[in-house]
Formats: sequence, structure tokens, C-alpha cells
Amino acid sequence: MKKIAIFASGNGSNAQCIAEYFENSPNVEVSLILSNKPDAYVLKRAVNLGIPYRYFNRDEFYQTSKILDELTNNNIDFIVLAGFLWLVPQNILQYFNQRIVNIHPALLPKYGGKGMYGNRVHEAVIENQEKETGISIHWVNEAYDEGRIIFQGKVAVDPSDTPESIAGKVHQLEYKHYPEVIEQVVMKL
Ligand code: GAR
Repeated sequence: MKKIAIFASGNGSNAQCIAEYFENSPNVEVSLILSNKPDAYVLKRAVNLGIPYRYFNRDEFYQTSKILDELTNNNIDFIVLAGFLWLVPQNILQYFNQRIVNIHPALLPKYGGKGMYGNRVHEAVIENQEKETGISIHWVNEAYDEGRIIFQGKVAVDPSDTPESIAGKVHQLEYKHYPEVIEQVVMKL
């Protein structure tokens, strides 16, 4: 059984979708959900899903080995970032080399980098009158949104679209593809 930890900062709808996808899997288990926000809705989802969870603060993440220890103590094999807004520190990047993926709600390298998350991305897509947008699933390294791309999916942007309607379309793409892509890469470990 491969064990996954999911990091999320907010709502956690992707985290839930991934957890439900693997609920009855004989091969993959979502073993832990972690958040840097004590009141993130993803932690309530973890309770409802019956998945162990943990909140951590900035100091614990960047100045101590507590989170790496938590991951290794739980025999985590693979890390999934799903709406997680902090850079991953070196100790975790090194230990989980080529075993951390992220999803970004745009067609990278466009609309990536620090501060580009959630509706800010979709607002920029509308401002630039893009005809299409989408999702990028990529390996995680020490920079925001720069690791090698594993998968991209596209969706059309209509003149009537708002940041909220684009977020809805992008979320549908995320739910459709992220669990499957995770399964593919985890099964190659
Ligand atoms: C998702 O759309 C994800 O792609 C995005 O945050 C949203 C989280 O939604 N991630 C980023 O913008 C990272 N730069 P969720 O909490 O409902 O899964």
C-alpha cells in the first residue's frame, strides 16, 4: 500500500475528491491531511472523511523537522499539494525527491509564480482575454510552479465567463484528472 499525505491551505475540495477516489483502493491510501491554516475547511473535511490531520505553523514547517518527522513516522510515500500556498522546505524536498506533485489552475508557464493562486489566476486570464485556460499538474521543486509538467488539461474561456465561472470549470477538470494522474505516478514508485 502506498501512503499519500495531502497538503492544503483552504477549502480542500481537491483533497476530498482525491481521498474519495482512493477510498476503496487496494494500492493507495490517503493517510494524512496537513494544513498551514488552523481554520481551513480542509481540516473539517478530514474529520468527516475519518483521515488523520494536522495543523502546523510557519516555524514548525521551516525551522524544525517536525513535519518531516510526522511524514516519516506515518510511512508516507508520496506528497500531494492541493491548494497549498507555501513553498515546500528543503528538508522535505530532499527526502521526497521526485515524490511531490502540485496542481495549478492555469496552463503553466502562464499565470504561475508567487501570489498567483485561486481567483487571482482566473482574473488575470480574463484580463488578458485568453481564449483558453486549464490545469497543470507538475513536480514540485524549490520555486513556485516551476517543476516539470506531468499533465495539462484545457478548457475554453467564453466572453461571458467570470473568475468564479472559470474557477468552476477548472475545478471540474481538476477533479477529473488529478486523482488519476496521482495514481499513475504513485504506481510507478
Ligand atoms: C485549486 O483550484 C488549485 O488548483 C489552486 O487552488 C484551488 C484549491 O481549491 N491552487 C493554486 O492556486 C496553487 N497556486 P480546493 O481547496 O477546493 O481544492
